[in-house]
Amino acid sequence: MERVLKEISGLPPLVFPPEIRDLTSALGLVAQRRAVLLQAGDCAESFASHGADSVRERLRVILQMAVVLTYSSGLPAVKIGRIAGQFAKPRSSPTEVVDGRELPSFRGDLVNGVEATPEARLADPDRLLRAYHQSASTLNLLRALTGGGFADLAGVHSWNQDFVRSSPQGARYERLAEEIDRALRFMKACGVDTRSQRVLHETDFWVSHEALVLGYEQALTRVDSLTGDWYDTSAHMVWIGERTRDLGGAHVEFAAGICNPIGCKLGPSATVEEVVALCDRLDPERKPGRLTLIARMGADQVTRALPPLLRAVRDEGHPVVWACDPMHGNTFTSTTGRKTRRFDDILREIAGFFEAHDASGTWAGGVHVELTSDDVTECLGGGHEILEAALDDRYETMCDPRLNGRQSLDLAFSVAELLRR
Ligand code: PEP
Ligand code: CO
Repeated sequence: MERVLKEISGLPPLVFPPEIRDLTSALGLVAQRRAVLLQAGDCAESFASHGADSVRERLRVILQMAVVLTYSSGLPAVKIGRIAGQFAKPRSSPTEVVDGRELPSFRGDLVNGVEATPEARLADPDRLLRAYHQSASTLNLLRALTGGGFADLAGVHSWNQDFVRSSPQGARYERLAEEIDRALRFMKACGVDTRSQRVLHETDFWVSHEALVLGYEQALTRVDSLTGDWYDTSAHMVWIGERTRDLGGAHVEFAAGICNPIGCKLGPSATVEEVVALCDRLDPERKPGRLTLIARMGADQVTRALPPLLRAVRDEGHPVVWACDPMHGNTFTSTTGRKTRRFDDILREIAGFFEAHDASGTWAGGVHVELTSDDVTECLGGGHEILEAALDDRYETMCDPRLNGRQSLDLAFSVAELLRR
C-alpha cells in the first residue's frame, strides 16, 4: 500500500485547480437560483467495461438529460458525472452471501474484485494504480468528446439512442430537438454567426466520485502553485457518503482541508444539529458552490425529514446547493432476490423534494442519480413497465440498480416540469 501510494503521489494530477474553481463558480450559480445541477452516472464504475463506447454512451445520456432541463427551465444545467474515479463502495456489512457462500463484501474495483471467490475479495493495493490510469484515460476521452463536436448543439438529435427513440419519451425528445434546431436556424437567419459561438459547440462537463478511500485521495491532493491552496486533483468534486459523514471522522476532516466543491449525502436520520455542524465545518466561509447537500431520504420520508433541515441551513445563512438523490433511500430486494428501486418511488421522492423546498422558500437545486445509457432492467416500472420477473433479463450493475436510458430521459422530463412550475 505504501509503495503504491508513494507512486501515485508522484504522478500528474488528473484535474487542475483552475477547472475546480470554475466548478465552484458554476455551483455557486446553482446556489443563487441561476442554474440547476445534474449529477449522474454509475453507482460503481468497473475495470471491465471501459471501452470508448461505454464512456461516450454514459456522456450521451447526461447531455440529453441536460438539454431537456435547460430547454424547459431556461437555466443552464451544471453537468457532473459520477465517472472517471467512481470505483469505491461503502458497504453496510463486511460480508455478503453469494450463491449460498459467505464472502467478504465487494468494495468496488478500487479495493477488491466482484467475482464471487475469496481470492478476488482480497484487498489489492495495485488496484489504486489501475483506477488512477483508467480515470486518466476516461478523462482524456471526456475532454475530447465535450470539446470536439460530440457535444455540439447541432448534433442534439444524435444524443437520442435508437432504443430510446421509439419510446414516447424518445419521441418527445425528438420534438424538443427539432425546436432547438429551428431556434438555431432562426438565429442564423437573423445574422448571428453561430459557428463562432463556442458555447454552442462545446460544453463544460465535470467529474466526481465518493472520497471514500482516503489514502488514494490524499496521494492526489496537491498544493496549487498559483494560490497556495490544497486541492484533491482526483476529481473536480468529491462527496462524503451517508456512512462516513461522522463529524469527528477522517472523511469530514479530509474534506474540510481541501478547496474542491464538496458534496455530503444526508439520509433520513440526519439531525438539524448534525447538518448545521457539517455546514460550519465544511463551509465556514459560507461560499456559494463550496458545499452541496445531497438529500437521500426515501420517498416516504422526504416531506417529513427534509423541511427542518432546509429551514435550519437557510437560517444559518449557509448558501449550499441542495440536490435530491432519489435512489439510495428507495432500494429494496425484489421477491426474486434482486436489489432494485421503483421508478415511481424515485419520481415521488423528487416531487417531495420540490414540495419541501417550495414550503421553505429554498431552491431545489438539482438531482443526483445513478443511471446508464444501456437498455438494462434494474429499476422497476417506468415507461416500458419493467416488472419483477423481468429484472433478471439484463441486470448488469456491479452494485446498485440504475435507471436505463429511457427511464433517465423520462426522469429528466419530470424534473423539467417541476422546475418550470
Ligand atoms: C452511492 O452514492 O452510491 C452511495 C453509496 O450513497 P449513500 O452514501 O448515500 O448511501
Ligand atoms: Co449507489
